[in-house]
Order: sequence, then structure tokens, then C-alpha cells
Amino acid sequence: MISQRAQNLQPSATLKVTGRAKELKREGKSIVSLSAGEPDFKTPKHICDAAIQAINEGQHGYTMNPGTPELREAICAKLKRDNDFDYDPSQIICSNGAKQSVGFALLALVNKGDEVIIPAPYWVSYPEMTRLAEGTPVPVRTSFENNFRLTPDQLEEAITDKTKALILCSPSNPTGSCYSKDDLEGLAEVLRKYPDVVIISDEIYEYIVFDGEHVSILNVAPDLKDRTVVINGFSKGFAMTGWRLGYLAAHPDIVKAVSKIQSQETSAPSSISQAAGVAAYTNDLSEVEKMREQFSKRRDFMVESLNAIDGVSCFTPGGAFYVFPDISSFLGTKTADGKVMETSTDLCLYLLDEFGLAVVPGDAFGEPNGLRMSYAASIEDLEEAMDRFKKGLATLS
Ligand SMILES: Cc1ncc(COP(=O)(O)O)c(C=O)c1O
Repeated sequence: MISQRAQNLQPSATLKVTGRAKELKREGKSIVSLSAGEPDFKTPKHICDAAIQAINEGQHGYTMNPGTPELREAICAKLKRDNDFDYDPSQIICSNGAKQSVGFALLALVNKGDEVIIPAPYWVSYPEMTRLAEGTPVPVRTSFENNFRLTPDQLEEAITDKTKALILCSPSNPTGSCYSKDDLEGLAEVLRKYPDVVIISDEIYEYIVFDGEHVSILNVAPDLKDRTVVINGFSKGFAMTGWRLGYLAAHPDIVKAVSKIQSQETSAPSSISQAAGVAAYTNDLSEVEKMREQFSKRRDFMVESLNAIDGVSCFTPGGAFYVFPDISSFLGTKTADGKVMETSTDLCLYLLDEFGLAVVPGDAFGEPNGLRMSYAASIEDLEEAMDRFKKGLATLS
């Protein structure tokens, strides 16, 4: 009864741990969870007020399919102010979250059998969205040593005559790694040799950058603009995950195709969320800055705590709210109750069952030697989590 398309889709690999964590919590166990992919802050008040005003003013109807002119203008002004990009409102499509923008961009670009290069560790949805578009995900494993940045040589090696797109995510979920200007210049140089390859640049964590400024591939290679799809949204920077508001900016041909798909699948995002989005982008970023400062302190705490544990090493991520430590020295060797920890999933389930710590195995992101910890949690929870992690690893024999 079920289509091949749905059958081919993997359920979210993170669910194994988060599902089990919920079960244990229901049983009354004490669980500390660092598995969340969302800020633990509330949406800034001025943004909420704009939404309430939109409700009270009666902005209750459908908006234009690509989003209201006000929001698309605000997005263009923001892209100029923060990123030095020049886009016209006609080149913007607002969606129900950046997730939808990535998914619809892939549906608009990928033909059956086309390859999409996805540096690993990757955000779990990229390969599955590629499959939904009948494309072939081509994960390219990056290394702990290179802070999980794809190198120009790796990119060159991965490109074939079937390559349709490369997905870049900086700052990255799940590693927090950021590409530098030099990194991106190196990748751009390779991409210039392959004019048919589209770049999907997911910049959703743009505002959560700790060391220096966020850099996009379009900052170093504006000549690639016509074949770059910039993805962004409000979820992470403004703590607006539940509002479901994101967007893409691209060449008019791509925008036209995405717009057609969106018009048949979902139409525009909520009118209320769009009004909130205008407030987010037309006011200063002082609230964003406060959240960023908190994340920065927590990052330092996490990296320091992890590197103080025997057998664990963790690079200092430049952005987002994740750390991705190397736990390979525990895999294939250490045991709990005689059972060898073969995979990062084994280790994470052990930490959850025995120590009440929920973290996401690297297996879910295409990197079996790591695990993802989100520090979108209070410093007290982070301290407790590090305590449990340390004890859990020390208890292995
Ligand atoms: C890398 C990345 N891109 C896109 C998204 C989707 O964000 P949104 O809430 O805007 O759909 C997420 C959310 O976890 C993400 O981590």
C-alpha cells in the first residue's frame, strides 16, 4: 500500500535516543537531555508584540504565495545589511521554515539519479530530502582533524557528471564548524570548473557565530550567485522554531520553480509569523546578541569540560549551539556489563539507560566516531550532563 518513495525514506535516526529518553522520563527517571536542536530561549518580546498586533489588526487571510511584500522587502534589506547580498524581493520565497526551503529547492533542481554532495557529518534531513527528490545523496566524510570542513580536493574528487548540487552548512549542525573565507575561496575555485553544479548554502545559524563574522560562499565568490541558493530563517537566531518561518534567495528561474511547487504543496507561511518576521528584521539585533553571548559562554564550558575527560577530544566550534566530540577511543574496545560499545549509538543508549544522559549518536549524522551535544540548555543542566558523561565513560571497562 505504501509508496516506494515513503518506504525508501529513513525515519529520523535521532528518534531512537529521544524516544527512549521520553519513555524513561515517563517512568520517573531523572534525564538530562542535550539532544535539542532548538534554542532554550523565548522569542524576543518586540517580535511577539508584532504578531499580536497582526492578529488584532485582522491580518488573517492567505498572503501572496512567496510571502508578503513587506517581509520580502525586509529580508532583502537584511541580506544587504548583514551579508552584503543584493537581492530583489522577487528573488525571495518565504516558507514554513528553512527545512521547507531546502526541501523545495531540491525538488525544483534535482532529477532522478542526480547526485547531491553532502559533507558529513550532515544535518539529518539533507540525505532524506535528496531521496524524496529521487536524487542520490553523496556523503563526503570530513575529518575531526580538519574541524569537519570539506576540502577542495574532497570536493573535486566527489564531483561526477551526475553532480547536481553541493549542500554547504555553515555554521554547521551537527558540529558547529564554520567555513573561513580561505576555505570557501578554495571550494569556489573548484566549483568554477563545474558550471552546472548548484550550491545550496544553508546559513540558518548565521547569527550564532562566536569568533569573527559569519562568511557565506557568496561573500568570497559573488560570481557564483546565479547558481547559489541561499537558505536562511528565523528559528535559530531569534528563537522562533515554533513560528515556522524561513526563506530562500536565488536566481529568478529557481525562484519561479520553487514558487510553483510551494503554490501546490503549502502556499505561503502563516500571515502572523510573517508579520513577526518583519519585526525581527527591521529592529536591531540586541536580543540576538544577548542569546549569542549566552551560547558563547556555554560553548567554552562544554569544550573545556570535554577536553578534560580522558579519551575524549573536542575542537572549539565557531558557531551554532552544538559540540561534536571524538569518542572513537571508547568504540570497539570498552564494555559495559560485558557488552562491547561497537557504535556511537551503543554508547549513547548506554549513557541514557545507565546515567540518564540523552545525547545524539554521530551515526545519525554520518560520522560514527562522534556524538552531538546541544548546549541549548541551562548551565546547571550542562554541568550535570558533563558530570554524568564523565562518570558514564569512567564506568566502562
Ligand atoms: C542546518 C539546519 N538547516 C535547517 C534547519 C531547519 O530550520 P527551520 O526551523 O527554519 O525549518 C535546521 C533545524 O534544525 C538546521 O539545523
